Amino acid sequence: MFTGKTLVFFWLYFCRLDGVFADTDAVKSVSVMEGDSVTLNSDTELKDDDVIEWRFGTYGPLIARINRELDEIFISDGTDGRFRDRLKVDNQTGSLTIMNTRITDSGLYEVTIRGSKTTFNVTVYGPDKTDKELYERGTEKESDTSSAPSAGAVAGIVVVVVLLHLAL
Ligand SMILES: *[C@@H]1O[C@H](CO)[C@@H](O)[C@H](O)[C@H]1NC(C)=O
Ligand SMILES: *[C@@H]1O[C@H](CO)[C@@H](O)[C@H](O)[C@H]1NC(C)=O
Repeated sequence: MFTGKTLVFFWLYFCRLDGVFADTDAVKSVSVMEGDSVTLNSDTELKDDDVIEWRFGTYGPLIARINRELDEIFISDGTDGRFRDRLKVDNQTGSLTIMNTRITDSGLYEVTIRGSKTTFNVTVYGPDKTDKELYERGTEKESDTSSAPSAGAVAGIVVVVVLLHLAL
């Protein structure tokens, strides 16, 4: 199944639900190999005076804020310093990059821009998954063992985008 260096799967769902929510919400699921970096991008066209806020968890602690009007960037170490030196933001795109990912980085990340919230469901896969995928790639002949880490690093990125359109 994982035939390429990097495979991206893109799934799109539109679900119409009755009542309850009037706003539009979106959950994007992102999978990444442990140790790799992952960039979360809301794909929102930014304005010069936008404030972009990233949170870890639903209504969780603020981990990064970009104030484009003041040209200010705030990056948190996260609770318990879990993200220390591993977060990066891009003040042009508003994206958040988690570097050297750990299994414990898995979870929901929320970005709010102009009152519109996008949620990312990040899953960080451990070595088991890497080994399994390398195995599944089977006879693709990663003969040079010294290249194994980088092979694992690019073995698979699965991006599943689930858009839930919640409408009255
Ligand atoms: C935002 O990006 C611009 C262009 O890359 C850069 O010159 C500026 O220093 C950045 N601002 C901050 C606060 O990093
Ligand atoms: C996030 O993804 C994981 C793994 O695919 C799944 O088990 C979990 O239910 C998802 N959570 C949400 C809130 O979508």
